[in-house]
Amino acid sequence: MKVGVLGSGDVAKILAAGFLKHGHDVMVGTRTPSKLDEWKGKNPKGRTGSFAEAAEFGELAVLAVKGTAALEALRVAGAANLTGKPVIDATNPIADQAPVKGVLKFFTSLDESLMERLQREFDGIQFVKAFNSVGSACMVNPELKGGRPTMFICGDNEAAKKKVTGILEQFGWETADMGGVEAARAIEPLCMLWCIPGFLRNDWKHAFKLLA
Ligand SMILES: NC(=O)c1ccc[n+]([C@@H]2O[C@H](COP(=O)([O-])OP(=O)(O)OC[C@H]3O[C@@H](n4cnc5c(N)ncnc54)[C@H](OP(=O)(O)O)[C@@H]3O)[C@@H](O)[C@H]2O)c1
Repeated sequence: MKVGVLGSGDVAKILAAGFLKHGHDVMVGTRTPSKLDEWKGKNPKGRTGSFAEAAEFGELAVLAVKGTAALEALRVAGAANLTGKPVIDATNPIADQAPVKGVLKFFTSLDESLMERLQREFDGIQFVKAFNSVGSACMVNPELKGGRPTMFICGDNEAAKKKVTGILEQFGWETADMGGVEAARAIEPLCMLWCIPGFLRNDWKHAFKLLA
């Protein structure tokens, strides 16, 4: 599959390398190409470009930018370049404020998630929330003592979620589909929970598992 990754931070670089590892064609997009020089050196098969070029390149895209900039990054990428495509939304609505006793501050409320805001402005994009509730180091084929972890996903487009479920399978995850876009109100705050052991005890190697 041709995958466009929007972002130049750890999440974008690690997921982009994961897609390459699993045989996909990848273009990573940024406003600042020099930020990807080292990544390009380590991943010679990967391409780099602007947000708009990466969005146009991908049959599927990944949104991996700062939460406060997510809407702006999509505007720059261009709605027309992403309309009708699945977009994995890995972002979290983290506010520009310090955590309180290890608990991150969000700029959204429990009645409205960031992904709902994105879906409202870009109604032709098939957003699927995924990869937001685990640290970047554990995103691609994580090796955890407890076995295969669970990725909670949601989104309004069933075909897009099916594609993302296939990718998660390749990336070493089982998938728990929590329903439509509104479920992002519950999935985004899992990031807060995931980060607490990190901020309090410097423990960043874990993931969630849903047991039945
Ligand atoms: N770090 C993690 O382990 C982790 C885990 C799960 C989810 N997440 C979420 O994944 C997302 C990416 O996290 P990250 O740590 O990799 O990187 P980050 O530092 O949160 O974001 C960096 C990216 O945001 C873009 N950006 C910043 N301001 C912008 C603006 N005004 N307009 C357009 N783009 C802008 C940057 O664009 P340029 O490339 O042009 O500089 C860069 O690509 C975040 O939403 C984060 O909450 C992070």
